[in-house]
Amino acid sequence: MNEQIELPSYLEQSPEVAARFQRIQARPEVLKVANMGRVFDSNKGPVQALNDINFSVRRREFVCVIGQSGCGKSTLIRILAGLDQPTSGQVLCDGEPVTGPGKDRGMVFQGYTLFPWLTVKQNVMFGPAMEGRKGQAAESEALQWIEMVGLEKFAESYPSELSGGMKQRVAIARAMANQPRILLMDEPFGALDAQTRAQMQQHLLQIWRAVDATILFITHDLDEAVLLADRILVLGANPSRVQEVIEVPVPRPRTLDQCLSPSFLATKKRLEELIHPQTERKASFKIPRLVAADDDVL
Ligand SMILES: Nc1ncnc2c1ncn2[C@@H]1O[C@H](COP(=O)(O)OP(=O)(O)OP(=O)(O)O)[C@@H](O)[C@H]1O
Ligand SMILES: [Mg+2]
Repeated sequence: MNEQIELPSYLEQSPEVAARFQRIQARPEVLKVANMGRVFDSNKGPVQALNDINFSVRRREFVCVIGQSGCGKSTLIRILAGLDQPTSGQVLCDGEPVTGPGKDRGMVFQGYTLFPWLTVKQNVMFGPAMEGRKGQAAESEALQWIEMVGLEKFAESYPSELSGGMKQRVAIARAMANQPRILLMDEPFGALDAQTRAQMQQHLLQIWRAVDATILFITHDLDEAVLLADRILVLGANPSRVQEVIEVPVPRPRTLDQCLSPSFLATKKRLEELIHPQTERKASFKIPRLVAADDDVL
């Protein structure tokens, strides 16, 4: 039994999926990145982290960014958040140039970034409170977000009393409480175990479906990208630029069962070809042998 299953092309779309992409195309652009580059000065000389990056994200679109470690994913998302500045080109959010952090762009990082001295509710209310929105109305709005991420029983708990997945759910609620135009997520589930991660992915898809949110999500995990995204932006390395933009042909709503569907596997195969080209997959490391040759485990 060594049958090769013939996969369809990842470019093949069912009429429903093609129609969905047409609807997305008709929506306004929330984010536009034009000819953007970032050069860092280092003691070894200039490092070109990003070079001539061009793409846009439409309202309520879910875009994933993948690429090898060090290819510039975090640099890209930090620039989109306004935490760093490009050295060339520009970023527009709703047509306005991004010059610094703003409440139109929410950010969720891999590490847990909640304020440990504030309760879940206080963490979620932090952004609106900074805007001067306090009192009963702001509190009930915060509770709505806490309910949306399924943590209503933990509103008065402190972050130290929560699991990793629960902390990330609070981080999502806190970002969403500012009602951002776009949610920027840098490997938000990277530190979670596989089962919690799968639950968080489903949870995020449900939230995304229920609210007016546009999401740009960075991940190392090819399955995660195919499961979540409308489009996947593949960043190449040296120099880092947009290598390919893939329209994911897997129909929505998405569930874990689809991970074995032909369109899912075809997309994942294409991502593997782009991220780990054949030459690299065959390359082997030279490892010094520390046991006798006749003591082989194979
Ligand atoms: N502040 C900095 N100064 C100098 N070089 C930097 C700086 N920040 C990032 N770089 C360089 O820019 C490149 C891109 O880094 P970045 O963190 O964006 O990669 P990444 O794709 O997010 O990697 P990973 O998948 O490991 O998180 C790397 O070569 C890194 O060394
Ligand atoms: Mg990174």
